[in-house]
Amino acid sequence: MIEDITERKETDLKLRASQEAAEAGNRAKSEFLATMSHELRTPLNAIMALSQLLQQERIGSLNEKQNEYVNSIYSNGEHLLALINDILDLSKVEAGKEELLLSPLPVSDLCNYAIWTVRDRALEKGLQLTSEIDPEADICIGDEGRIKQMLVNLLTNAIKFTPAGQVSLVVKKVPQGISFIVSDTGIGIDSNQFQFLFEPFKQLDSRLNRQYEGTGLGLALTRKLARLHGGDVTVTSTLGKGSQFTLFLPDSVHPGEINSKFKIK
Ligand SMILES: Nc1ncnc2c1ncn2[C@@H]1O[C@H](COP(=O)(O)OP(=O)(O)OP(=O)(O)O)[C@@H](O)[C@H]1O
Ligand SMILES: [Mg+2]
Repeated sequence: MIEDITERKETDLKLRASQEAAEAGNRAKSEFLATMSHELRTPLNAIMALSQLLQQERIGSLNEKQNEYVNSIYSNGEHLLALINDILDLSKVEAGKEELLLSPLPVSDLCNYAIWTVRDRALEKGLQLTSEIDPEADICIGDEGRIKQMLVNLLTNAIKFTPAGQVSLVVKKVPQGISFIVSDTGIGIDSNQFQFLFEPFKQLDSRLNRQYEGTGLGLALTRKLARLHGGDVTVTSTLGKGSQFTLFLPDSVHPGEINSKFKIK
């Protein structure tokens, strides 16, 4: 039996070519973003350093209005810097240029740091903030800065989207790894929205005067970093009742879905 597969072969080739073009385009975009973010940070650092000098009144005293404006320059600068850092991080991971510095880390140090970082924000809103660590989950393997960043991102969200009640961080030993579970009693998320949560720049309530500040980069970045560790971030939630985000990190790190470089400390 003879079958003419020319057409199938041609379609295969076309498909592969368009896949490669899409990947190259994506890489170019990520590289462009990484360079741009870097270029943006330099002048912004100058703006922030100089406005801080003015704030400290080392150059001369400020009147009330001047003080108000300088404070506004500084806090907006801080906001912009955080945004640029997130974009830079995300594009670095997407371009396959993120290097994880892996080492065994005491889980209690990671949790204490994360809780300490968000404590004031929870207190301001009158939320109860607790943490609990399974004694069996004492050490995890990963990049210290990145794990702290992921935990802080999840806790910051939990606090931001919880008007009243509590936020907790529970760490459990699970088969083949450790789970960091961040739960809140906040506004919750409709399950048909789960698919959009981890998309960059995606915020679920996109009404014009959105009540909550943010850019929609936190979860996209957190999931990418978790997957780079060979783990993941997953969610369960009930609208109006609260949400639970789980960061799973495996005991032994295998390169994640994205081409990544690893360094062992
Ligand atoms: N704990 C949570 N409870 C309810 N909704 C949440 C929670 N965490 C995230 N979300 C929803 O998912 C969206 C995306 O979260 P993400 O952290 O990526 O963005 P953000 O917090 O709005 O901005 P950014 O993190 O960049 O400051 C949020 O805008 C919000 O709509
Ligand atoms: Mg966020």
